[in-house]
Amino acid sequence: MKYISVVNGPQNASAIILGCMRMPALSVSEAEHMIHTALENGVNFFDHATCYGDGEAETRFGDAFKQSGIARESVIIQSKCGLRFDRNEFDWSKENILESVDASLRRLQTDYLDALLLHRPDLIFEPEEVADAFDTLAQAGKVRYFGVSNVPTLQLELLRRHVRQPLVFNQLQFSLEQSQLIDQTLYMNNPGTERSIARDQDTLAYCRLNDITIQAWSPLQRGFIKGCFIDDPDFPKLNEELQAIGDSYGISKTAVAIAWILRHPAGMQAIAGTMNPEHLRDICDATKVTLTHNEWYRLYLASGKYLP
Ligand SMILES: NC(=O)c1ccc[n+]([C@@H]2O[C@H](COP(=O)([O-])OP(=O)(O)OC[C@H]3O[C@@H](n4cnc5c(N)ncnc54)[C@H](OP(=O)(O)O)[C@@H]3O)[C@@H](O)[C@H]2O)c1
Repeated sequence: MKYISVVNGPQNASAIILGCMRMPALSVSEAEHMIHTALENGVNFFDHATCYGDGEAETRFGDAFKQSGIARESVIIQSKCGLRFDRNEFDWSKENILESVDASLRRLQTDYLDALLLHRPDLIFEPEEVADAFDTLAQAGKVRYFGVSNVPTLQLELLRRHVRQPLVFNQLQFSLEQSQLIDQTLYMNNPGTERSIARDQDTLAYCRLNDITIQAWSPLQRGFIKGCFIDDPDFPKLNEELQAIGDSYGISKTAVAIAWILRHPAGMQAIAGTMNPEHLRDICDATKVTLTHNEWYRLYLASGKYLP
């Protein structure tokens, strides 16, 4: 496993995070096995959100973690709040942030979150309220580090002007297939492709310039979580290239797809959502290799892009 020293954040964060969005599908014993498999393979970082399974993911993890007897300090537990699908709105109010964290702590059966992220922008958020909420949580020892998810440059700038804690993470969708985070830079000013459209205010560069670690979500999914592109017949070239590079290193296609994310010099983490211990072991092989410059480009081009 590779570990990342997050600037102003945890110093030993595994490059691969286990995302627990799909954990409600597991029994408590299966979830415990998944947590043990993660730790045995060097994964010490677990991602949650209040909305995953409407709280069920955190509940399952909390029960499983308690049963495992693993020391709380040996893992990094992150959760996210702000999505209120029950009310059909996104809500970064102080009240919602504080209530959400208390509920997460109860479900996870822990006294503190290592990291709290605001899940997606609340279009009418009041930065002063967020700042107040973060102060309250930090002072109470309920949250150690703060960050965001799916938040573009200028909203980040606005938030950073008000909150008193550093924002250390931005969780964003990024994969070989969903690579909008980098495409626009390549196709800049090119009328021949939709990829030249600036969709995210160059958030990747902003995060790098401001020491915000990017966590890549859904690293194996096509579209907006439409299924895994590994072995998908719609992606023959990509799977061929993943296989060829994987064979040369003795690792799986899945591991190569994750290694492609980790090869980016931004020093990202990749959030694996598998709930299959065998798949997680495979994925962790990604940290045993460093793709060459040429391999990185071969994969990028095999995923359907071209050099302008
Ligand atoms: N911030 C956000 O807005 C946001 C949005 C979505 C997700 N997330 C986070 O990102 C995490 C990962 O998302 P995700 O689950 O969509 O990511 P993913 O790792 O790209 O996809 C995992 C899914 O692909 C399947 N899969 C099929 N073949 C596989 C193989 N060979 N190896 C590994 N997996 C394979 C898995 O099934 P098996 O279980 O059978 O392996 C699982 O259903 C979530 O758990 C959550 O923590 C964040």
